[in-house]
Amino acid sequence: MSKYYDVYGAWKSDPEGFWEQAADGIDWDRRWDSVYSKVDGLDRWFAGARCNTSYNCLDRHVEQGRGDQPALIYDSPITDQAKTLTYSQLRDEVAIFAAVLQDLGAGHGDRVILYMPMIPEAAIAMLACARIGAIHSVVFGGFAAKELATRIDDARPKVMVAASCGIEPGRVIAYKPLLDEAIGLSSHKPDACVVLQRPMAEAEMIDGRDHDWSDRVEAARQSGRRADCVSVEATDPLYILYTSGTTGEPKGVVRDNGGHMVALKWTMKNIYDVNPGEVYWAASDVGWVVGHSYIVYAPLLHGCTTIMFEGKPVGTPDAGTFWRVISEHGVVSLFTAPTAFRAIKKEDPSGSFIGKYDMSKFRTLFLAGERADPDTLQWAEDKLGVPVIDHWWQTETGWSIAANPMGLGMLPVKHGSPTVAMPGYDVRILDENCQEVERGKIGAISVKLPLPPGCLPTLWQNDTRFRKSYMDAFPGYYETADAGYMDEDGYLYIMARTDDIINVAGHRLSTGGMEEVLASHPDVAECAVIGIADSLKGQVPAGFVVLNSGVDREPAEIEKECVALVRQKIGPVAAFKLTMTVARLPKTRSGKILRGTMRKIADGEDYKAPATIDDPVILDEITQTLKDAGIVSP
Ligand code: COA
Ligand code: AMP
Repeated sequence: MSKYYDVYGAWKSDPEGFWEQAADGIDWDRRWDSVYSKVDGLDRWFAGARCNTSYNCLDRHVEQGRGDQPALIYDSPITDQAKTLTYSQLRDEVAIFAAVLQDLGAGHGDRVILYMPMIPEAAIAMLACARIGAIHSVVFGGFAAKELATRIDDARPKVMVAASCGIEPGRVIAYKPLLDEAIGLSSHKPDACVVLQRPMAEAEMIDGRDHDWSDRVEAARQSGRRADCVSVEATDPLYILYTSGTTGEPKGVVRDNGGHMVALKWTMKNIYDVNPGEVYWAASDVGWVVGHSYIVYAPLLHGCTTIMFEGKPVGTPDAGTFWRVISEHGVVSLFTAPTAFRAIKKEDPSGSFIGKYDMSKFRTLFLAGERADPDTLQWAEDKLGVPVIDHWWQTETGWSIAANPMGLGMLPVKHGSPTVAMPGYDVRILDENCQEVERGKIGAISVKLPLPPGCLPTLWQNDTRFRKSYMDAFPGYYETADAGYMDEDGYLYIMARTDDIINVAGHRLSTGGMEEVLASHPDVAECAVIGIADSLKGQVPAGFVVLNSGVDREPAEIEKECVALVRQKIGPVAAFKLTMTVARLPKTRSGKILRGTMRKIADGEDYKAPATIDDPVILDEITQTLKDAGIVSP
């Protein structure tokens, strides 16, 4: 019998008592004045407390005897390298790099942007910022210079840290030219850049601004420079992570120090059922929230060994890579996105690679980031023979809103559902009038305020956008922007986004942002981007463009330029490969483009032309275009 219902009930009857007890898992420099309070109209946890996240991730474990335990295992099939750092070694590297950052002028409250691939130095730089109270903002390597520039202008970093390159299958991506271009584009200029030279592509350095990572670290090591942990307010920001909003302007999700540690530490035992000393692996990227929470912070807060995997689920070198990592390092729990499993299943449908490895320590597979389709879930269950747990969360929350809490006793799995709301989240399904709908009926999935510790208190220096984006639609609730329903047993089903966000290979992208790029093409008069179903990536974007009258160039040429433009402005991660020229776009009489109907046509779903449609014939034209492009069968 699962303890979930008792634990959830205990939280509901005394939320502050619940989190106060969970806070015992963290070492504090000063305890809080209040567990929960409203500060300047924002919900805050543990106000008045002082703490340091880096201390809790590293130093305290060393002090308590974990110094020789591996803290981080770097496993890089793409470069054929591997390396292990113990807790003592990781603490030392972090303390030294933190001193380097201090020497470059970064201190409490200063922002540091990191543009790094999946190498140990990415985690070292994050934890070094945390150590000195600086606020890191990691930008995913698959984003283009312009996206990086937007983040530089919003975060206004004092220092930037980058590697000279990232490695993708078959190609080396030089990061330094992207960094230089981004700094050229942004109005804000950082004082200094620290560049880690990787031998696959050495970066050219700019005198006076750029500093070689190894030189600076060696100099600090030789002179015995190490930074102590700086005591910060529990409510001080630990990091900013930009995520797609409904426009091209990303949202700067803020994470604090105290509540974040309390929540993440609680999840490790109660949701993931992992114990200190065990090996936990999140196969994601430090550029995403999953990487922040479950590659870096949560496993280290809990005294686990974390894995930094630089590779892909397939092709590095084969579809058995995940099983090799699990067996070689004794992984007990793997967390990844369903798309990774779809890739493995496609390559190795019979799961023949699994049998080649010793998977005896492996207990649970966790999936999140996109809807886990029942086929993939079933395949993983059959082939791995362990529970496969779907759980639902967002960059904004930092940990799962709904999950099957393995540490409290597993609840029955229902395919298609990420199970039940976690303590801290009072989930309600609302209609447009903010009234709860019946069980089984689809509505806007919302969370009654306040959100629990670990969730965003606001957006970076933009409380107004925070309220407008999340709080205004349903007063008293956080709007998740996911639509779905709750069944009679309280199980949640996440069906679709209510905004223009699409989910491509577990990556969250704004179709609005892509439309802004297409609209900037001189020959494009109007455009629409929709997400269409894809058997590997879940969804992929598809663009429709109407050309300016008088344009007499070949549409195919313009379509190619549109594809290149999105890659150049947003980055390869957008996976934008398809543009179709159409004579006109379907709209309502008030001029709203019928993106939802277009998506249904593309996905072969039944659709009804809305009563307010301006000209229904346009839907036939769109259908024909999709047939010509091979998206819809003739
Ligand atoms: N730096 C530069 N480019 C990157 C990059 C990075 N860090 N990460 C991805 N890209 C590029 C890819 O090379 C690809 O380029 P291409 O268009 O030239 O092929 C493009 O961005 C799209 O990448 P992706 O969507 O990841 O597709 P893929 O075909 O390379 O791989 C999967 C498909 C399913 C194997 C891959 O998406 C995957 O492993 N996903 C795991 C899920 C995950 O990590 N989700 C994060 C949230 S949990
Ligand atoms: P991100 O902020 O990138 O983590 O993306 C969050 C969005 O991904 C959510 O709002 C959902 O739309 C989707 N998502 C994440 N996890 C799941 C899941 N388990 N099931 C369905 N959708 C999910």
